[in-house]
Amino acid sequence: MLSTEGAAPTKEAPAYPHHDDPRYKFGSGAYHYDAPYQLIHDNLLNLSHLGYVHLKTICGNARQHMNAQMKVTAEGDCVKVVRLMPGTPPPPTYKAAWPFGETCDRWQEIKFDLTHLRIWTDAIEPGHGALDDSNRGGFHMRGFHGITPETETTAHYFWSMASNRHPDMPETIDTVIEQTKFTFDEDKTVIEAQHRNMVQFGQQATWLDIHVDAGAVRACRVIARLLEQQRHQELAQA
Ligand SMILES: [Fe+2]
Repeated sequence: MLSTEGAAPTKEAPAYPHHDDPRYKFGSGAYHYDAPYQLIHDNLLNLSHLGYVHLKTICGNARQHMNAQMKVTAEGDCVKVVRLMPGTPPPPTYKAAWPFGETCDRWQEIKFDLTHLRIWTDAIEPGHGALDDSNRGGFHMRGFHGITPETETTAHYFWSMASNRHPDMPETIDTVIEQTKFTFDEDKTVIEAQHRNMVQFGQQATWLDIHVDAGAVRACRVIARLLEQQRHQELAQA
């Protein structure tokens, strides 16, 4: 049983220096979800959905998303997923923000923490640096995703997205923010539909995790372990 009654944060809110960095501009928003919070986690930890859901904004080649070089690591209650997609076509949002040619090299890093997820994605022109160089240039998107359970089947979702300006395309950053809002509207539509299907079909539905769900599965285990610890503590105090 999820207990949110009287829940208080046990951690400080994460610092987001990109919000104050003059090289970046950020937008933000909030949603109320008619879906469990962990479906939002699952969505954010499996970015292969970009190639199928976000065709007008941050998509890219679906096959390359599914076959991206991926590394999943866990430390304590945190999970990190790094995905590399070299030589991939830049999606519409990237092309609106940066003068990419036919291909770009994409880097995606998802950090799951209990209170939030941080998703940082970059793209550079091929040959303009190494994808594993943390000082890589190019186009950056720095996303914050705060997901708060409301009930077992509803959640609050707070987000911000900071992107850097290309010196020759400074105004297009507003387009990036608008397209980010559109992108997150699409996620809400898909996730709430997923939840409705789960309610409708219940045990008849088969839940199948595939390789791109590795990060989501690890995060799920963290939450299950902590809920179990909480249950034992409550039993011990009863
Ligand atoms: Fe999405």
